[in-house]
Formats: sequence, structure tokens, C-alpha cells
Amino acid sequence: MPLSYNSNPCWPGVVLDTYQFVVKMFHKALIYLTTLVASSTILSQNGVGVNGQYLLGLGIADITGPVVETNMMGYASLGQTDTGLHMRQRSRAWIVADASNSTQRFVFINADIAMGDTGIRRAVVSQLSSLYPEYYNNANIALSSTHQHSGVGGYLENVLPEITALGYVKETADAIVQGTVLAVQRAHASLKPGKLSIGNTTIVDGNRNRSPSAYLANPAEERAKYQYDQDKEMSLIRFDDADGNARGFLSFFAVHGTSLYENNTLVSSDNKGMAAYLYESMVEPSAMPGNQTFVAGFTQANVGDTSPNTEGAFCESPGQPWDGQPCEFEHSTCGNKTEDCHGRGPGFRISDFESNRIIGQLQADAAKTLMSQSLPVVSGPVGYVHTYLNMSFHSFTLPNGTTVQTCPAALGFSFAGGTTDGPGAFDFIQGDNSSNPQNPFWELVKGAVTPLPNAEQVACQSPKPILLNSGFATFPYNWSPHTVDIQMLRAGNVVILVIPGELTTMSGRRMRDAIRAKLISEGVIGDDAYVVLSGPANTYGHYIATPEEYGVQRYEGASTIFGKWTLDAYIDKYGSLVSYLSPSSTGQPPSDPAPEDQTSKAISLRTGVVVDNAPIGKKFSDVMADVNTNGAYKAGDTVVAQFVGANPRNNLRLEGTFLTVDQLSNGQWTAVRSDSHPSTRYQWLRTNLILGFSTVNISWTIEDGTPAGMYRFSYFGDSKALNGKITAFTGHSSNFTVTA
Ligand SMILES: *[C@@H]1O[C@H](CO)[C@@H](O)[C@H](O)[C@H]1NC(C)=O
Ligand SMILES: *[C@@H]1O[C@H](CO)[C@@H](O)[C@H](O)[C@H]1NC(C)=O
Ligand SMILES: *[C@@H]1O[C@H](CO)[C@@H](O)[C@H](O)[C@H]1NC(C)=O
Ligand SMILES: *[C@@H]1O[C@H](CO)[C@@H](O)[C@H](O)[C@H]1NC(C)=O
Ligand SMILES: *[C@@H]1O[C@H](CO)[C@@H](O)[C@H](O)[C@H]1NC(C)=O
Ligand SMILES: *[C@@H]1O[C@H](CO)[C@@H](O)[C@H](O)[C@H]1NC(C)=O
Ligand SMILES: *[C@@H]1O[C@H](CO)[C@@H](O)[C@H](O)[C@H]1NC(C)=O
Ligand SMILES: *[C@@H]1O[C@H](CO)[C@@H](O)[C@H](O)[C@H]1NC(C)=O
Ligand SMILES: *[C@@H]1O[C@H](CO)[C@@H](O)[C@H](O)[C@H]1NC(C)=O
Ligand SMILES: *[C@@H]1O[C@H](CO)[C@@H](O)[C@H](O)[C@H]1NC(C)=O
Repeated sequence: MPLSYNSNPCWPGVVLDTYQFVVKMFHKALIYLTTLVASSTILSQNGVGVNGQYLLGLGIADITGPVVETNMMGYASLGQTDTGLHMRQRSRAWIVADASNSTQRFVFINADIAMGDTGIRRAVVSQLSSLYPEYYNNANIALSSTHQHSGVGGYLENVLPEITALGYVKETADAIVQGTVLAVQRAHASLKPGKLSIGNTTIVDGNRNRSPSAYLANPAEERAKYQYDQDKEMSLIRFDDADGNARGFLSFFAVHGTSLYENNTLVSSDNKGMAAYLYESMVEPSAMPGNQTFVAGFTQANVGDTSPNTEGAFCESPGQPWDGQPCEFEHSTCGNKTEDCHGRGPGFRISDFESNRIIGQLQADAAKTLMSQSLPVVSGPVGYVHTYLNMSFHSFTLPNGTTVQTCPAALGFSFAGGTTDGPGAFDFIQGDNSSNPQNPFWELVKGAVTPLPNAEQVACQSPKPILLNSGFATFPYNWSPHTVDIQMLRAGNVVILVIPGELTTMSGRRMRDAIRAKLISEGVIGDDAYVVLSGPANTYGHYIATPEEYGVQRYEGASTIFGKWTLDAYIDKYGSLVSYLSPSSTGQPPSDPAPEDQTSKAISLRTGVVVDNAPIGKKFSDVMADVNTNGAYKAGDTVVAQFVGANPRNNLRLEGTFLTVDQLSNGQWTAVRSDSHPSTRYQWLRTNLILGFSTVNISWTIEDGTPAGMYRFSYFGDSKALNGKITAFTGHSSNFTVTA
């Protein structure tokens, strides 16, 4: 596709499909007229004038890595190796440019991954800034995440989150980078004049605090300002074209992407990916998932202590007197151990997938409520600021004048206790802040895993008992980040704080309030300043608990890696940079050195695909167990077929599908479902490692309202020969009937 991008700063971002001068001039004239008409519309509506005008772009692309034989990211569970696909992971991108000076722009990316990452971001920035040198750079690209826990793992820059993935998985990282860059390219190609507006609504049943005992450590008078121990508001920025037609939105709501537990091994996008699917397919029901033009954004907010397991946490301890009882309050234990304590989602009696659907639907419904209202218009200039901050012994002054410091990264014993969304193992529990000797075995071995902390580090991290002194662990490369990204984006009166970690509920409230007050007191934005936050983004700096919650050392406090003053350091740093969001400011602030690239030192203990073979007398795609052709299926039934398969790692089929459900209409087969519909499942099983045999199961649970008719499954595979050659093949099940 011969796309070129106009380099005249007065008319940038306009996609031209030809180089002809005349056509260029025509486009310029058209855009000029559109802008003029649109700005006069806005002017007549609210008197804001051209300030209310932006160039907006939205895009989406597939980032799904290898869906089998790869550790999944989120729970850090060695046993959670993927075996197939529930729904593909995607990146979605939103570009906001100032129509009067469109180099003044930012791109916000929301990826269906567990966390933003330094290495992924570095590659995305490098590709985008060489594709569009005048538009995108290290300062104006934000890589945030849905913080989902059922995606493909192995892409992270630092050692610690890579241990269970057996090191770095380049295929995963490459898929995320490739799809993310494509999403931004699509957003860039779609830039056109438009309007932004913002509002909020509440979702009361969509989240629950998973560490209420830590929340209670916050001052009573502060807690009294809030009705709930979780943020129940969803904020939403609506993107309209110049005629007022919605093109998509970007919403912010805090709820962990842990609706699917660590016993799920099908790659998915968890509740926020589900919300996006539900919304996008509501707007464009006949488009395949991921192929819609409307982009529904569900990004993560102050997620730290939130859980989608809204029923609470209960003991699953068959045979024990406490079976079925709520877990112990302060430590989330059952019989003094964490392993049996599990949070329950709203669909718990049906399935984890049902809990996932419900939490997704609640978010989609809230977005629908906001999109059906007339929201306050966003107006004012576009801005951004980015800097790197080295958190190792970073010293700063608290508002009361006391100087404090952050520390090199370390994780406390309670980190290994896990959470009620994914309990830990052995004898680690949450809420352990004692300086008493811990389990003597772990006391003995912890020094073999990471270097023992020196006295300065012990004092700095106090009262955290250090299990993993990851900030001092550099073999074979850095275990934890030292340096994080500090970034803010501004669209008119709205500011997005892009956070390198998981703020707890109260941390997020303090952060938003402090930065909003600073924006107003420094005259950057008026009383209509609206601050939202998103993360974990850019770099994974683990958790950010309040100093009071830190004292209690539940999971979130134990995982606040830079010590007790982490939150205050961020409030201080972000607050010090608000003036860079003012249009009169030029350039970017001084910065600590960028974190060193670790991926070049990365190691992987993972083996590639050796060979695929079909058993004697069979060929790839042969049906081994067919659909039922004798009777008819109806809504609610699950149709299954099993094929002679090959390893899907041979071809990720990005932007494509491993399966379709085809419907016969007018003598033609038309694909009506893909591998990204939540009603379909793709499952792969290696049946003989030596001979390279495998099977693929395709299933479809028929939705209510599915038209009666004749259907079949298609299976799309790729096999690898011993010489490395990869060959695509297609198979079909028998035809089957669905009745109304
Ligand atoms: C447009 O914004 C850029 C910064 O993105 C600035 O360098 C340039 O001077 C601005 N141009 C005008 C005409 O204001
Ligand atoms: C919701 O919107 C109202 C009106 O703009 C605003 O006062 C309030 O602060 C917003 N809530 C949040 C959590 O941002
Ligand atoms: C997965 O784990 C959850 C939490 O323990 C449990 O409720 C659920 O039944 C498990 N699902 C399967 C399929 O084993
Ligand atoms: C996606 O949409 C485009 C344009 O509408 C269409 O040409 C293409 O076939 C669609 N792809 C799929 C997989 O549906
Ligand atoms: C749990 O620990 C407490 C205190 O050490 C002890 O009294 C209790 O018996 C233990 N419960 C079980 C089931 O081991
Ligand atoms: C970060 O700061 C620490 C302590 O001041 C210093 O030792 C270290 O070299 C710095 N790291 C980088 C990458 O600049
Ligand atoms: C300032 O506040 C911090 C945190 O609350 C506290 O530890 C310190 O003692 C205070 N300093 C003064 C001088 O009050
Ligand atoms: C340890 O946690 C308990 C609550 O579990 C709290 O009362 C105590 O103050 C904490 N200790 C420190 C040193 O913060
Ligand atoms: C795959 O399908 C076969 C045949 O229907 C069935 O026996 C098997 O249990 C299925 N496997 C999975 C993982 O669902
Ligand atoms: C399935 O339907 C198609 C289209 O009508 C037909 O050509 C084909 O023979 C059918 N297959 C079987 C196995 O009946």
C-alpha cells in the first residue's frame, strides 16, 4: 500500500493514496474545509472555538504470541503453560493531535497484556519514531496495559517476571511489538478532525478490595471521605468525528484482570478484553472481532488492591472444618496456609469464564451508559511530558520538609504469599511485617537466589522483611528495574498520568488529587482539570502502596519494590513536571539515563518446534472425531470436532484465525465465527513428542439467536517438516445443522 505522509507541519497526518500534486491539494482543501466547518460547529455549541478541535486517530491490531507450550503471564505460575486459545490479545491505540499544530500530539496504547514493559516500549518507540520521525518519539508514546493474567508470557525485560517462562520468549515479544506498531499505524492512517468529551459513572459490583486489612491502615479521616474501599467510577473519554459520530472511546476503571484463574490454560484477554469485544461487536455485529473500525478502550487504573472476585475469598479445603468458610481476614489463610484461599467471581457457580463475562459486561454497560449521554466537551491544548527516574536511593523532600528516599528494588516475604486471586505457595502468607526470623529454610536459601541485603538496604526497606533483594541481582542481567518512566499526557483539560506500576486504591486517590491540585495551583489548567490514571504502563515497577499499607506488608506492600516512600516519590516527581504540560513550555525535562537494554543479554531455556507429523494412514487436518451429523444442534449446545493437528507455534496467524465456523448461505460458505469469539475454543494437544503427533480440538457453544442453518468447522494449521519447511493446510468438519 503506497501510503505517504505529508510532511508540511501545517497539514500533517493526512493520508494520501497518491503522490499527485493536484490530489494532494484537493485533500488539503478538503481537510481545511472540514476543520473549518467542524470548528464553527463547536464554536456555536459552547463558544470554545478552535481550541476544542483535535485530530483524532484510532487503531487496533493483533498481538497474540504462541498459544501453546509457553508460560502465561500474570500469576507467575510455572505450571500455567498455554494449551490453546479463548480470545486473541490486541493492542488498541488512540492518537490526539492539536489541529492547529499537529506535531503537538500523543499516542496512548492500551495493550491486552499483563503490564507495560521497558523492552517492548523501547522497540515500539524505535519503530514508530523511524516510521514517523516528526510525529512520534520517546516522550509522546505511552504503552499501558489491561493488566490481564491470561495472556502469553515471556516478553518482559527483567529477570524476575521471566523465571516461570524459563526466560525470554522472543516470539511473544515480537508479536506484541509488531501488533502494537500496526495498531498505531492504523490509528495514524485514520487521523481526522474530531471532538473529545469526558464523563464518569459508577460500577458498584465490578470490583472488591482484596486487601481490606491493609486499606484499613490508612488514616480514618482520609477513609471517611470515600464511600467505598475501591474506586467505583469509570471515567471515559469519548472520541467523535467532526459530525459528532462516535469513533470509539478510552475508559479507565480499576479491576484486576484475574477473572480467569491460574488453572486456565487457554490464552485470553480477561475481563477488559471481553468488555472491548462485547462493545465493539455490539456496534458492528457482523465484523469479525478485531476487524471493527470502532475502537472500545478499557484500560486499567489504580488496580493494585482490586479484585474481580466480588463474592469474596473462601477456603477450598475439602475435608477440613474450615472448607467453604471465608479466609482469615488479615492474612487470607485457611488453616494457616494461603494455598486454599480463593476469591470467587460473580459467575463462580457456573464457571470462571462466566465470571469473566459478567465483569466484562459490567464495564461494557457502564461505557454504554456514558456513550448515550451528552458529556462535557474537552478543550484546550495537547501536551505531554516524559522523563526517566532512577529509583535506587532517590532522595526527595516531603511536603512537610522531611527528606526521605526510595530504595533499590526488593520484594518482601509476603510477595510469595500471593493474593486471593492467585495464592502463593509453601508457607508464605500475606500481612507479614515481622522482623522475627522467617522460615529457616527460606532464610537459608534466599541468599542463594539474590544477594543478601546490606544494612543500608534493610533499613531503607523497613519494615519489609526482604525475601528477594532483586535490585542487587544482576545475574545474568537485571532482575528488577532501577529506572522507571514518569509520563503525563494532556488533551485539553484532561490529564492522563501514565504510571509505571500498580497503584492501590488509596495511592491512586492521593496521586490524582495531588496532581490535580498542582495543575490548578500552577495555572496549567483551570478548575475543570480532570485527572485520570492508567497503568501498569511503560515499565513494570510492581506495586505502589501507601506508606501506611506498606507497614502492614500484605502482598501489595511486600511488592512495593522501591520501599515505603515509593508513592510519595511519584507524587513529588509527577507534581514537579506539570508545568511541562503548559503550551508555553518547550522541550522535555532533564532525565536520569534511560534503562540499559537487557533483552540483548536475555536467555531462553525454551526449545523450538522440532517437527510435526501425522500418524500413518492420516494427514494433517483429517477429522479424528467428527461433529454429530445425525441430529441437529440448538442454542446452548457445544459442537466439538477433533483434527490431526500441527503445532500452532509454526505460524501465529496474527490478524488471522486458527478456526472458523462457516455458515452455508446461497450455496456459499461464509465464516461467521473466528478463534476470537468467546463462544469458540481452540485446544491443542501434543500426543507424541518423539514422533511429532498432535491433535486440535475446535468447539463452539452456540449462542442464543444463532440463525438456523447448515454449518461446518474449518481448521487452519501449519506443519513443520524436519528440514524446517512450514506448510499451511486447511481442514473441515462434516456439515452440521443448527435449529432455531
Ligand atoms: C508546533 O509544536 C511543536 C512542538 O510539538 C513546536 O516545536 C512548534 O514550534 C509548534 N509550531 C507552531 C507553529 O506553533
Ligand atoms: C466525575 O465527574 C465529575 C463531574 O465532572 C467530577 O466532579 C468528578 O470528580 C469525577 N469523578 C472522578 C472519579 O474523576
Ligand atoms: C479453577 O480454580 C478455581 C479457584 O480455585 C476453581 O473455583 C475452579 O473450579 C477451577 N476450575 C477448574 C476448571 O478446575
Ligand atoms: C475485515 O474488514 C475488511 C474491510 O471491511 C474486509 O475486507 C476483510 O475481509 C475483513 N477481514 C475479516 C477477517 O473479516
Ligand atoms: C494456626 O496457627 C495458630 C497459631 O499458631 C494455632 O493456634 C492453630 O492451631 C493453627 N491452626 C492450624 C489449623 O494449624
Ligand atoms: C541509579 O542510582 C544508583 C544510586 O544512586 C546508582 O548507583 C546507579 O548507578 C544508578 N543507575 C543508573 C542506571 O544510572
Ligand atoms: C513528615 O511526614 C512524614 C510522613 O508522615 C513523617 O514520617 C515525618 O516525621 C514528618 N516530619 C515532620 C518534621 O513532621
Ligand atoms: C505490622 O502490621 C500490623 C497489622 O497487621 C500493624 O498493627 C503494625 O503496626 C505493623 N508494624 C509495622 C512496623 O508497621
Ligand atoms: C477433544 O475432543 C475429543 C473428541 O471429542 C475428546 O475426547 C477430548 O476430551 C477433547 N479434548 C479436550 C481437551 O477437550
Ligand atoms: C456439505 O455441504 C456442502 C454444500 O452444500 C456440500 O457440497 C457437501 O457435499 C456437504 N458435505 C457433506 C459431507 O455432506
